[in-house]
Amino acid sequence: MAGLALLLTACSGHASGERAGMIRGDGARGRSVYLERCAACHGAEARGTRLGPSLHALAPSWNEKRIFVAIEEPEAPMPKLYPSQLTRRDLADVAAYIDGIAADK
Ligand code: HEC
Repeated sequence: MAGLALLLTACSGHASGERAGMIRGDGARGRSVYLERCAACHGAEARGTRLGPSLHALAPSWNEKRIFVAIEEPEAPMPKLYPSQLTRRDLADVAAYIDGIAADK
């Protein structure tokens, strides 16, 4: 891995401002974030457990940005992991990873 991560800051400064500000995610790195932080509830293959739903069945309208927001501002009982346990980059990477598996239903 190259030591320099190219973070594309897409701060478009629109209505929802900071909350909508996303960096481009790296799905491969997102997979390791997923396994560390999410798999306990959503399953190693994201097919769900008793503690959390499968993430393969997200509606087609769930794009990477929508997934990002769902993790950034989760609905209970999904725990709020950002910013205490996830960095903004983790969020973007894990959203890219989930977007990839959600497309592959
Ligand atoms: C403590 C268990 C737990 C952990 C850890 C957890 N989740 Fe969840 N997650 C849930 C539950 C429960 C829901 C369903 C919330 C609801 O009923 O709306 C959920 C919902 C979601 C949804 C929305 C799914 C939908 O169909 O509405 C996404 C996306 C998601 N989680 C991704 C993640 C990611 C990515 C991580 C790791 C960064 C993570 N979750 C960590 C329990 C968890």
